[in-house]
Amino acid sequence: MSGATRFRQCGSVLVTGASRGIGLQMVESLAGGGFSPGKIIATTRNPGGAQKLQDLALKHPNIHITTLDVLSQESIDKCAEEAFLPLLKAAASRGGAGGSGSMSIQRAAVINMSSVLGSVECNWGESANIKWFPYRTSKSALNMVSRCMAADLEPDGILCMAIHPGWVRTDMGGSQAPLSPEESTSSMLSVIGGLSEEHHGSFLSFTGEVLPW
Ligand SMILES: NC(=O)c1ccc[n+]([C@@H]2O[C@H](COP(=O)([O-])OP(=O)(O)OC[C@H]3O[C@@H](n4cnc5c(N)ncnc54)[C@H](OP(=O)(O)O)[C@@H]3O)[C@@H](O)[C@H]2O)c1
Repeated sequence: MSGATRFRQCGSVLVTGASRGIGLQMVESLAGGGFSPGKIIATTRNPGGAQKLQDLALKHPNIHITTLDVLSQESIDKCAEEAFLPLLKAAASRGGAGGSGSMSIQRAAVINMSSVLGSVECNWGESANIKWFPYRTSKSALNMVSRCMAADLEPDGILCMAIHPGWVRTDMGGSQAPLSPEESTSSMLSVIGGLSEEHHGSFLSFTGEVLPW
């Protein structure tokens, strides 16, 4: 997991949807992997009900739990007061690891959790049998948002990209999925850790493979 070791040089990492599934596994792997960033901000809609996350935070004092419901503007505004764009810009202005000025997660990055089901080009043949129209549409929209963000934040040196975690055994992925949350997360952290300028505005699989939009 070579790329993942670069998380050690990150000041803060914010993980949304950290109560369960891939988000919770991200927090667990980051906190316990021997490459823990300075601070892990873990967001959940209901901190009181996120028992596994609370247990992790007791074990790892660099985990800070905060409330975020992405469907509530009030909740987004409250959470944004503690973080988000001004912090990313401030981090990016410091130039990243060694002040190199190149794009990386050690400088500032936005990683959007997408899905290959959001790829318009891949929605053909066998894949087209998965008729999750609203889900596919929401992920296509997220992919577009990722490209828009990449264009907007490029002058600030903030790396933006979208990643597909694979088909993962979570509440959403179901029990038939081939990947455990650990396998998916371990591979994604390695890919994310190795991101550089050339991956800005990209759509990658958890293996690092370039996916068509
Ligand atoms: N599993 C897969 O095979 C797979 C494949 C491709 C892409 N993905 C993507 O990976 C991401 C995580 O999926 P998962 O499999 O880990 O799903 P999951 O186990 O069902 O977990 C979903 C997470 O999203 C949070 N969430 C739901 N609605 C929210 C809202 N309005 N505001 C903030 N958080 C909210 C949930 O929090 P609560 O506990 O508060 O409900 C929970 O932490 C998703 O974006 C999914 O589309 C998953």
